[in-house]
Amino acid sequence: MIEINNLSFSYDNQKQALENINIKTADRTITAILGHKGAGKTTLFKCIMGLLKPSHGLIKVNNMFNDMLPYDEYISYLPDKGGFYSLLTPWQNLIFRGSRHNKNKKEVKELASDYLHKLELNNMKNKISGMLSKGMQRRLALACTLINQPKILILDEPTNGIDQVSSEIIISILKELKHKCNSILINTHDLVLVGAVCDNIIVLNKGKLIEEKKVEDIGMNLRKYYLDVVDSYK
Ligand SMILES: Nc1ncnc2c1ncn2[C@@H]1O[C@H](COP(=O)(O)OP(=O)(O)O)[C@@H](O)[C@H]1O
Ligand SMILES: [Mg+2]
Repeated sequence: MIEINNLSFSYDNQKQALENINIKTADRTITAILGHKGAGKTTLFKCIMGLLKPSHGLIKVNNMFNDMLPYDEYISYLPDKGGFYSLLTPWQNLIFRGSRHNKNKKEVKELASDYLHKLELNNMKNKISGMLSKGMQRRLALACTLINQPKILILDEPTNGIDQVSSEIIISILKELKHKCNSILINTHDLVLVGAVCDNIIVLNKGKLIEEKKVEDIGMNLRKYYLDVVDSYK
């Protein structure tokens, strides 16, 4: 469970990127954070991860304050760009990331093989990661995010700008993860992904939370619904 109370954040004490945000996610759910570019989505994720210190407010993850969390063992973050070492191979990236956690070598190797297989990267495992296609690189970044088997997953635009096949592979792994993780937050513009895996949506606009709804209550046209919500705040 992620609980955010009265969160505000300003860059350089000037520009208010987040204003009085309140969010509570339930266990075994996926929540999509939607909003146009500059709405504050990435800033929100960086606050949850402790990479930015809120100007005001509190964040709790599974009832622990976010600055007290044993991060590596608990929560994992897919940044909007990168997320792996370009000069290492996928296999080396996964072994390196996995061995940072308290797991033995055999277990790390098994997990690396498992994720390479699930994300359909097995025949690329010994190539230089920086040479892979954009979609494969995004799948690798996701595998690196998953190798510590986190209870809480924070994914910043997991399918942005990638090919259809990679998107579908990522969507299918998210469906599987939903039953394993306590909470998953995804910041995305990909409404196909939202319709396929998310339980709830939250819409940010210019740093404010303007809408919160269950996907099942929206009905068929998610895109029209989202654009109407954002337009009504112009
Ligand atoms: N490092 C930064 N310094 C100053 N302003 C920033 C910085 N990063 C983001 N911003 C500003 O904060 C606002 C929210 O940005 P961001 O959280 O990246 O939005 P989103 O992820 O929704 O596109 C934007 O107006 C953006 O220009
Ligand atoms: Mg962003």
